Amino acid sequence: MKKFWIVFICCVINFAHATYEEKDFSSLIKNSPFPEELTEMHLKLYSGYVSNTNEVLKLLETTKGYEWQAIKRRFSWEYNGMRLHELYFENLLKKTTLSKKSSLRKKIIQRFGSFDNWRKDFIETGKMRGIGWVILYLDNDKLINDWIDEHNIGVLENAHPLLIMDVWEHAYITAYGLNRLKYINIFLDNIDWQVVEKRYQKGKKG
Ligand SMILES: [Fe+2]
Repeated sequence: MKKFWIVFICCVINFAHATYEEKDFSSLIKNSPFPEELTEMHLKLYSGYVSNTNEVLKLLETTKGYEWQAIKRRFSWEYNGMRLHELYFENLLKKTTLSKKSSLRKKIIQRFGSFDNWRKDFIETGKMRGIGWVILYLDNDKLINDWIDEHNIGVLENAHPLLIMDVWEHAYITAYGLNRLKYINIFLDNIDWQVVEKRYQKGKKG
């Protein structure tokens, strides 16, 4: 019985101080289609989002009133900053193609008329002014290309993110200057479609 209570108390303490762990994307430094220095810097920024998400959780335990409310409002910004970067790094890889037999490709063609039409729409979304993310979502059997302002404004509720592209300036400006289109095209030519396809199959199950 004593052992049970020790385990129980440890579980409660761990739950109260649950923290998010940084995922290891270091292999991308060599494998991503972008310059190593850019990827290294980007991974450091991601690391900051993980630390800050944990920091926000800690602060929420020790603050009250207006201060607590202000920190609470900040949580989704840090949290989504962490999660969106993870989704982005996971779908980024050197040169893979979406098989012509893939059910996702067929779905894209059914929805957009052709794969090129989808790509053009994704590019136009990515060229929009501002900083944020471009996402191909699956929502109730529909595919939608959409935009998120910063990390947390305009996130589509209950839609499954399939493909995520970072269009904050830090994702490209040190390598391509203001040529965001160049970055977008390199990104689109270097997607890990196996990851995207898996997300699609998972999203279809709901
Ligand atoms: Fe980023």
